[in-house]
Amino acid sequence: MIFKSKKTTPEEEIDIKELVAASGLSHIAFIMDGNGRWAQKRGLPREAGHGVGVKAFKNTVTLCRDWGIKTVTTYAFSTENWKRPPQEVTEIMRLLDVYIKEAEDDNEKNRIRYIFLGDKERLGDALREKCEYLEDLTKDNTLILNIALNYGGRAEIVNAVNSLIKEGKTEISEEDIQRKLYTAESPDPDLIVRTGGEVRLSNFLMWQSQYSELYFSDCLWPDYGEEELRRAIIEFSKRKRRYGGV
Ligand code: IPE
Ligand code: IPE
Ligand code: MG
Repeated sequence: MIFKSKKTTPEEEIDIKELVAASGLSHIAFIMDGNGRWAQKRGLPREAGHGVGVKAFKNTVTLCRDWGIKTVTTYAFSTENWKRPPQEVTEIMRLLDVYIKEAEDDNEKNRIRYIFLGDKERLGDALREKCEYLEDLTKDNTLILNIALNYGGRAEIVNAVNSLIKEGKTEISEEDIQRKLYTAESPDPDLIVRTGGEVRLSNFLMWQSQYSELYFSDCLWPDYGEEELRRAIIEFSKRKRRYGGV
């Protein structure tokens, strides 16, 4: 056939579901960065970027699910993010509250298992209880969505070790730490995507990222969508994962 009715690039012709399956991409993690800059570029308060960021996040989770990715982890709020102005922190927590309510209402439709990674104590009783309720409500669903909230990778490892000490252990193995991490239910991430242009992990999944493939994009998180995600998956499928072997 010589003529094509619609011009497509070779990348657009790739069946992304097949690629996810063939490349063994079962866990993808996102450092959703760039909300504040997205808003400031438009002359809006930083909080406006977080609001649009939630929409991008929901859309991304749906794409991952539809494309066959079984575990998604997302960095929503770090242990260091408390340094931000109080009105920004309050707005992020308010958005989370709304998000949790919607997740409860959509449970029958979405069938997602929610797990919050991090120390819930600092969130206050009301938000902590809502997080725990959502975890309990969705515990029998199979697709895992980990939301890192008041999360720090170092704090997670310290927490794991302290918990082992309380169990009376005097010597610990990698497996011991693994089962005490907030992510104990999930395999290590195959791919970590960071938007917003910074090339660092900012205390995210310090233990679990040992052999994760890293992908950095200049896209600001509120602009994140199907095209960007496709690009990351295609790049991941080309990586050669050797784990120290040959
Ligand atoms: C990431 O976007 C979201 C959170 C940390 C909650 P930022 O708010 O860090 O956006 P930038 O990096 O300032 O643009
Ligand atoms: C990382 O983004 C944390 C989240 C995306 C929740 P930050 O904006 O806090 O990271 P730094 O400060 O640029 O390293
Ligand atoms: Mg940032």
